[in-house]
Amino acid sequence: MKVVLLGPPGAGKGTQAKRLEEQRGLKQLSTGDMLRAAVAAGTALGRQAKKVMESGRLVRDDLIVAMIAERIKEPDCAKGFVLDGFPRTVQQAEALDAMLKESGKGGIDRVIELAVDEPALIQRIAGRFACSKCGTGYHDKFKQTKTAGVCDCCGSTEFVRRPDDRAEAVAVRLEAYRKQTAPILPYYRARGLLKTVDGMASAEDVAHQIDQVLDEG
Ligand code: AP5
Repeated sequence: MKVVLLGPPGAGKGTQAKRLEEQRGLKQLSTGDMLRAAVAAGTALGRQAKKVMESGRLVRDDLIVAMIAERIKEPDCAKGFVLDGFPRTVQQAEALDAMLKESGKGGIDRVIELAVDEPALIQRIAGRFACSKCGTGYHDKFKQTKTAGVCDCCGSTEFVRRPDDRAEAVAVRLEAYRKQTAPILPYYRARGLLKTVDGMASAEDVAHQIDQVLDEG
């Protein structure tokens, strides 16, 4: 199965994509994570993307499309995947359709929009942090570590916050979503693929709503 999770910054795409990978074996393909890995590794792509990402703007379509086109050919995508943060423009959505058609693997099965109010998005992003050793994500209010200051998964006491989670960059990211990404919704609605779930609910409840959409047949 090939699933797209759509939603504004902080809507919970990464949280739900990770769960779908763990519970359903759908490979999580997060373009944000791939770009952050490229930045950390200092690759040519990472050098091009770094400043753009920190400002909150979108990285160029051609760079992103080339990255995903290579990634979906990998064997770990053979059983299906969940796209988290891609596509983000109508051009990317069209390129995705074209690459899937070319690969002969069939098109996207479901597109799920996580609908969340802007004040809640800002609260979720402002409180987010991650373990700097194993990458496990936490939130100051919604997902705290069991022992204060210690990662539940690896015991590390070092944590990081994303540079693009600063208030100025968040405003730019929300604007990019409204102007460049939201137009994808009618694109998928017209193809009968789009379902919207209430992303304001708890992470467990959102997971339940997504499961219902995926099991609808
Ligand atoms: P990316 O990494 O994709 O960031 P984003 O879309 O802004 O999304 P986030 O990672 O901020 O949020 P999320 O929806 O995954 O929420 P999460 O689960 O973490 O992109 C970063 C940048 O890379 C872009 O700005 C752009 O520059 C570039 N880029 C990436 N893809 C691109 C593309 N295709 N084209 C061009 N450029 C691209 O949850 C957020 C927080 O809320 C967490 O703390 C979590 O614990 C908490 N939470 C989650 N669910 C709930 C819930 N239901 N209730 C309460 N709290 C919750």
